[in-house]
Amino acid sequence: MNMAAPADRFDRSLKDGLDAIERASRDEVMALQRQRLAWSLAHAYENVPFYRQQFDAAGVHPSDLKTLSDLAKFPFTVKTDLRDNYPFGLFAVPREKLARIHGSSGTTGKPIVVGYTKADIDMWADVMARSIRAAGARPGMMVHVAYGYGLFTGGLGAHYGAERLGCTVIPMSGGMTERQVQLITDFRPEVIMVTPSYMLAILDGFAKAGLDPRESSLKYGIFGAEPWTNAMREEIERAFAMDATDIYGLSEVIGPGVAQECVETKDGLHVWEDHFYPEIIDPETGEVLPDGEKGELVFTSLTKEAFPIIRYRTRDLTRLLPGTARPGMRRMEKVTGRSDDMMILRGVNVFPTQIEEALLATDWCAGHFLIELTREGRMDEMTVIAEARAEHWDGHGLFVHAERLVSRIKDTIGITTRVVVQGPGALERSMGKAKRVIDKRPKS
Ligand code: DLL
Repeated sequence: MNMAAPADRFDRSLKDGLDAIERASRDEVMALQRQRLAWSLAHAYENVPFYRQQFDAAGVHPSDLKTLSDLAKFPFTVKTDLRDNYPFGLFAVPREKLARIHGSSGTTGKPIVVGYTKADIDMWADVMARSIRAAGARPGMMVHVAYGYGLFTGGLGAHYGAERLGCTVIPMSGGMTERQVQLITDFRPEVIMVTPSYMLAILDGFAKAGLDPRESSLKYGIFGAEPWTNAMREEIERAFAMDATDIYGLSEVIGPGVAQECVETKDGLHVWEDHFYPEIIDPETGEVLPDGEKGELVFTSLTKEAFPIIRYRTRDLTRLLPGTARPGMRRMEKVTGRSDDMMILRGVNVFPTQIEEALLATDWCAGHFLIELTREGRMDEMTVIAEARAEHWDGHGLFVHAERLVSRIKDTIGITTRVVVQGPGALERSMGKAKRVIDKRPKS
């Protein structure tokens, strides 16, 4: 079979530099999706025994896809399918056609491994270039990449995209916060790409060095790899006098660059639907939900060669909305969290992002926090450990503020928590994805 996905090389010559598909109508995007989806299903079926077995067992064949909604007949793929086929069992091309391997450690167990052909890397660079441009960057700008380089897709994904756009890249990777601050100050990049939680650590670094972050050269921040709130956006934008946008992606689908928020609207992330087909399902029943309803995000790759992925359940919770800045492509709302991050306290569902929002609504907390779960008797208890801003710290624990926050959380989220306020710098900084929840409950 023809290995090459039905591709149209992007026309970057359009006067404002958008890819042609970014200006396409919804109908045009859907027509392209229909054609590419048929290719992707057939490619998976013919080249990956796992998909052939899955489709056969479900009694479906790629030729059953007549319209986009027929995708709902095909079986889901879940993370354990990737683990069960570790390392290379889901690849659709011979090993020697792979240009690169990435992986994700996940939080538990065996890593998952994904592969890319040269054409996949090329497509990824294209969608990342598109994302970086949508965030406000332009060719000729300098981009400081502080996502980790290595098996994690963040660093290299950002790197290739920024180069593709025609930017100058600083491949800094994560960590060495003092050095980050020094290079930002000396090289004067306009753009930074980093997890939002590590951006806060860089902010601390500016304070430590006695530098005003608002005077830095940074104008655009492209933040993702973990959930973060609009309240955090405001915090970062205010601190650095920059525009901050959200970038989403996952290794199983390609890496960063599956969806990106446009700087002119900052109203959720446009899914690059010419390469990644999104669905929202009810996580309990697996039923496809209409646009606008909240549920679990599912992706099918439309053009990937080495590692086609069909109806992959991301466990990320969000909803799909109509396109705005890119009218033909739907948006996904900022991710509230992963279904695995959801905590249930006396029957109330809580996500760490809700705690982040409550903390950032105070004036004394800059967004460094941890959630500890413990069990006392039969009751689960939540303790929020929050760090005070230097200018608010009283050396004791800001007891009045802590109490006020307890009642705010009770009023807005409906749960009773303990709040412990600690001094500036007390909580360990993450260099990549922040770990927000420490579960100390006995394993049942
Ligand atoms: O985190 C890819 C990435 C790198 C995205 C850099 C953005 C920037 P994984 O390590 O495979 O890949 O983790 C994927 O991270 O399923 C979400 O749960 C979470 N995630 C990624 N981006 C966002 C975001 C990269 N913008 C998992 N908002 C995903 C919320 C995000 N969660």
